[in-house]
Amino acid sequence: METVYVDRIIDSISPEMGQSKPMGIKASNDKKYLLKTQLVNIEPYGIIKNEDAAFAQEIIAYELAKELNIPVPGYAVLEVEPEFLTENMDYCFKYHITKPGLYFGTEFIPDIQKKIMENYKTEQKCKYKHAAQKLTSAFDVSNSQAYADIIALDCFLLNGDRFTNQGNLIITSGTRKDRKVYAIDFGHCFFSPYWNNEKKELFNKLLSNPKDTDQFTNYCINIMLSIGQNCKKNPFGDVFSKMENYIYFKNTNPFSDIVKKIENISTSKLRQILYNVPDEWMVDGDFERDKYISFLSLNKHNVRKVITLMYNAHAFRHSNKGDELKWPIEKTIGIQ
Ligand SMILES: Nc1ncnc2c1ncn2[C@@H]1O[C@H](COP(=O)(O)OP(=O)(O)O)[C@@H](O)[C@H]1O
Ligand SMILES: [Mg+2]
Repeated sequence: METVYVDRIIDSISPEMGQSKPMGIKASNDKKYLLKTQLVNIEPYGIIKNEDAAFAQEIIAYELAKELNIPVPGYAVLEVEPEFLTENMDYCFKYHITKPGLYFGTEFIPDIQKKIMENYKTEQKCKYKHAAQKLTSAFDVSNSQAYADIIALDCFLLNGDRFTNQGNLIITSGTRKDRKVYAIDFGHCFFSPYWNNEKKELFNKLLSNPKDTDQFTNYCINIMLSIGQNCKKNPFGDVFSKMENYIYFKNTNPFSDIVKKIENISTSKLRQILYNVPDEWMVDGDFERDKYISFLSLNKHNVRKVITLMYNAHAFRHSNKGDELKWPIEKTIGIQ
């Protein structure tokens, strides 16, 4: 995992969106990054919360996405030195960068479609047909298989922060041939950005009953449905609705390859990923690492079930009506 130093601020690339308001910087490897913080201003209450599992969860997800060939920006562990903080005190405070240390950052992708947001707002406010059409075509990208792959990854990592959140997919500009979608922002995976008792209970729900996982998968689907409940177009959310519009089922199961790949992720790969997370990003050290490893090595077998439940809950408009979703035979049966 690459660690680089933060050299200087680049104000012009700092985005306006997002709860944690990432800060634009140039690093010692000459690349531009958006540096994130775990101290987040919870709107509209004005309370600052320490999302103490966010960096670890980001890095776990980015490493898994890389392993699975799912498009994400490059990323690095960014070191903020005391001198940098002293020299840029006011600016850093504005972005809640309050102490030196290691921060998570993604490589800045220039030229992303800002219009997507405006079209969302227009669509929501006015029900203009052309706004809805424009927004739908904005999602028409050259790598559209990525939509199914990202959904499968989010099911594996219990990411409750994409299907209704307009800021966590980025799509580049240009003609359809040049347009690409990337998944970003995995800080809220495992249904929260915190390492706390709730997270331990969530993991234990599966870990304490590994042979009967139906209850756990139903529980996950219910959480996803409750997050998406205000969305008229699709029970899983507005953004989900835009993604699933490009997922086709004719004579095929568009999830079978990615699910096979997820099921084949080895426990040793998971160990390698978790043991490379910087110590200062783990709240509970190796205990926490081992919980993530055990959870993920069980939950990888649940992804096909969760997607089947979504399919049965009419999440996909191009599904073959009345058909069951067919899967290839599972290679690894049971629990290792
Ligand atoms: N690598 C990137 N390249 C370009 N824009 C980005 C990148 N990462 C994030 N952004 C922009 O910054 C916003 C906030 O980033 P995000 O990682 O979602 O943080 P938050 O936790 O604040 O939601 C995104 O919605 C997107 O518009
Ligand atoms: Mg975000």
